[in-house]
Amino acid sequence: MSPTIASAAEPYRTPDARGAAQLAVFVSGGGSNLKALHAAVSDGRINGTIVTVVSDKPGCGGWKFAQSKGIAVLQFPSKKHESGEHAVTIEALPATLRDLNIDFICLAGFLKLIPVELVRAFPRRILNIHPSLLPAFGGAGYYGARVHRAVVATGARYSGATIHFIDEEYDTGPILAQRVVSVYPSDTPQQVAARVLHQEHELYPEAVAALCDDRVTWREDGVPIIWKGH
Ligand code: GRF
Repeated sequence: MSPTIASAAEPYRTPDARGAAQLAVFVSGGGSNLKALHAAVSDGRINGTIVTVVSDKPGCGGWKFAQSKGIAVLQFPSKKHESGEHAVTIEALPATLRDLNIDFICLAGFLKLIPVELVRAFPRRILNIHPSLLPAFGGAGYYGARVHRAVVATGARYSGATIHFIDEEYDTGPILAQRVVSVYPSDTPQQVAARVLHQEHELYPEAVAALCDDRVTWREDGVPIIWKGH
């Protein structure tokens, strides 16, 4: 018997708050997905505002991009003794994001495990993008080039990108959207990575736009569904 589609979406945000959703984007590296999300916000595909960029790597590409666009940056995790003006501790992070009225958190190349306090403070509101067709090639140790090396080494004929809501583990939360790419016998891991990344840059904005438009509902078995825009 097919799972029941929830009849009505439980609105993520109250109707009077249907203005632009307030977004926090977490990065650890180049920030190409941050840039794709920012472009989609700028051209109106995403009804949202990137309020802050959070990174464990101050000065990384995503951090610098945020600063170039006048977006506030926060360093997380930071040790208690790191009193930099941007530093936020694990204990302070949930309240800091609540104070910024953050509606949704987008992990975009962020390599640290999200603390359980934050996962619980933002239920069904934290997305991650992973460069494989989860659950394949996911979990601890599967990140960046390691994913694509494993895909090529196993002879997988397909790979792709996955957007999922996070839970308290790496890469195991409910899947919201996926895109598939072919893997050819002559492919190098770098070629697979580039093909997947191209799909990521289209898929993440589409998924975040759906979330910001309240076009995501939850099946009774806990699977999130995107409903296409008009
Ligand atoms: C991307 O492949 C993404 O899937 C993974 O981190 C990689 C780098 O992301 N989570 P970005 O270029 O820093 O957005």
